[in-house]
Amino acid sequence: MSIIFHEQAKEFHLFNDKISYVMEVMANGQMEQLYYGKRIHDRESFHYLHEEMPRALMAINVPEPGVLSMQYTKQEYPAYGTGDFRSPAFSIIQENGSRICNFVYDSHRILQGKPALTPLPATYVEAESEAWTLEITMKDALIGAELVLSYTIYETFPVITRNVRFVNQGEQELILDRALSMSVEFSDMNYEMVHLSGAWARERYVKNRKLEMGIQAIQSTCGSSSSEQNPFLALKRPDATEQMGEVYGFSLVYSSSFLAQVEVNTHDMTRVMMGICPETFSWNLKPEESFQTPEVVMVYSDQGLNAMSQTYHRLYRTRLMRGIWKEEARPILLNNWEATYFDFNEEKILNIAEKAKEAGIELFVLDDGWFGARNDDLRGLGDWFVNTDKLKDGITGLSRKVEALGMKFGLWVELEMVNKDSDLYRAHPDWILSTPGRFESHGRHQFVLDFSRKEVVDYIHEMIGKVIREASISYIKWDMNRYMTEVYSATADAKDQGGVMHRYICGVYDLYTRLTEEFPEILFESCASGGARFDPAMLYFAPQTWTSDDTDASERQKIQYGTSFVYPLVSMGSHVSAVPNHQLYRKTPIQTRANVAYFGTFGYELDLNKLDQEEFQQVKSQVAFMKKNRKLIQQDGDFYRLLSPFEGEDTAWMVVAQDKKQAIAAYYQKLNKVNASWLRLRLVGLDENQLYEVKGAQHTWQVYGDELMHAGIVIDREYLNREGGDFASVIYEIQAV
Ligand code: DGJ
Repeated sequence: MSIIFHEQAKEFHLFNDKISYVMEVMANGQMEQLYYGKRIHDRESFHYLHEEMPRALMAINVPEPGVLSMQYTKQEYPAYGTGDFRSPAFSIIQENGSRICNFVYDSHRILQGKPALTPLPATYVEAESEAWTLEITMKDALIGAELVLSYTIYETFPVITRNVRFVNQGEQELILDRALSMSVEFSDMNYEMVHLSGAWARERYVKNRKLEMGIQAIQSTCGSSSSEQNPFLALKRPDATEQMGEVYGFSLVYSSSFLAQVEVNTHDMTRVMMGICPETFSWNLKPEESFQTPEVVMVYSDQGLNAMSQTYHRLYRTRLMRGIWKEEARPILLNNWEATYFDFNEEKILNIAEKAKEAGIELFVLDDGWFGARNDDLRGLGDWFVNTDKLKDGITGLSRKVEALGMKFGLWVELEMVNKDSDLYRAHPDWILSTPGRFESHGRHQFVLDFSRKEVVDYIHEMIGKVIREASISYIKWDMNRYMTEVYSATADAKDQGGVMHRYICGVYDLYTRLTEEFPEILFESCASGGARFDPAMLYFAPQTWTSDDTDASERQKIQYGTSFVYPLVSMGSHVSAVPNHQLYRKTPIQTRANVAYFGTFGYELDLNKLDQEEFQQVKSQVAFMKKNRKLIQQDGDFYRLLSPFEGEDTAWMVVAQDKKQAIAAYYQKLNKVNASWLRLRLVGLDENQLYEVKGAQHTWQVYGDELMHAGIVIDREYLNREGGDFASVIYEIQAV
């Protein structure tokens, strides 16, 4: 791994074993992108890759007789207005109203390691030798502004991370109207754009579309990364599959509104850009101040989508998640939300907890409804003191009683919100985001606290800190149940209003930082109406996320399959819930519910007292199965997607230990098929020459890895029929002999 600067040619080559990234300083002083893809040899100059020729109608950016034009040039960080008519990566409004900029190469530095992006979360290194960072400083002399383009290349991952920092060293105030985190360009448009789109209870469905000329984009404008769009996109060659072919992934480490855009010009050139959503952003950059954009993590794979996902999984598991939980198998939990909703008291909770303990469950989580006057979702949010009508000995008493049963205790909070019917709102009505003179839109009867203000964050910190300090709390579920509207902060200047959404999320990161630093032993799980804030930045603070409010086993296959494009299994909160399912009213076998939930953090979301004896015994064996296998599933294994729920009636996936000695494969069907055709499930990732013992639902047999991968497993249709047919599933435990 290295970053080489070829001084003569003014070119940079970033490379490791797997990837190369090449750029040069152009004749006009701006930066050009020459190559990004599979590793190539280094050479003194790659200038032969520079594309330039005179074309009609083009604006030329160098003195005559030169013909360099930005219109047809692949750039590192394109500006608007000097001949490139595509969308720019940034835009700066100057005091005279002009937006024209000319940032030219000034200097660079190459350093070992990876600087932090404070106050923003980002991937990191544990030893300086793990990565190299290149910082290229570009200067616009007329306005005295500087922008620093940062690139980090990791030694062991086919990954380059990018971010940009703006520094105002001039005398005028600058308005940053657009400040994306990166731009990457390709010479042709023969790609498909893959993205993860959905809605509440059907988050992160895999979408795939052929690139067309013009702009294709996904974005969030709601102040959260959102359940509608995930801050990720990939470009794949049309012939790339899960296991083969070229794929470029782009993932933004950010939890608020974002833009991910692909623009194809009429010369088939493809430009990918990503960063903070310009529509909801403008930043008043005063003299001597700087602005830091969030990080984009770019992954290259020449072995299909699955290899791209595995890179994200490993990187995010080991160099994005932090704290003691990142390497730990996660506790099997029971959450009372779908068991009781708001209707509980201490006796009821302890009754559920006792049964959970009997099943072998390790952590009991008390969800919404324990504080203030919170007997429904109309009131109480913001009042972070216990409701002693429901819990006579408080959270402190309850947590100790749960611990006395032999389980850890966890608690739900929603710190960013307030109901108008709350003591907090009555005391501080101006603490919510609200535009003067305008209607205040509500969502789930709640309003968004203005976390762009330090005093608001300080107050919430003090209130919740007290609860945590007094009780015995091992886990916190941090929920967030509405999007932002009428975004305006009562105390910000007019020119700073465009930055409120970004300052808000920095306030959230600040509170997360304070709580995780003070309580490093607590396991945090982020949540936003299920999966409306499932993004890499959240994983930096909370190493698991409640994947979706949809706990139906069949729907969950799609949600978890899509989520796995970027996020590791250990980050996906996944629970077994009651039937009929509360979101879809569907009945699925309890074994299938567990067979899906195993591929995540695993837990239960129901009152186990309501199961019959046979089902309860099944729960006990499920808990035992997960305890035996969670290290492989959550930490040691590589995840492979085998059959897509978006393409047919079957889903299959598997986890393989890195030494290939152990694996677990799962097959799920949707509706049963009468007189069905045969199906052979071909596995991947095993050792061809290794003899394995395969334990299916009814039989155990021995075969070689090549047989499992090329001949496959014959899916036992008789067994699926006996399991109830519809939504039946089977797990294969595979162990080297
Ligand atoms: C939304 C979450 O996704 C649910 O799991 C639950 O915690 C509710 N909020 C509680 O209000």
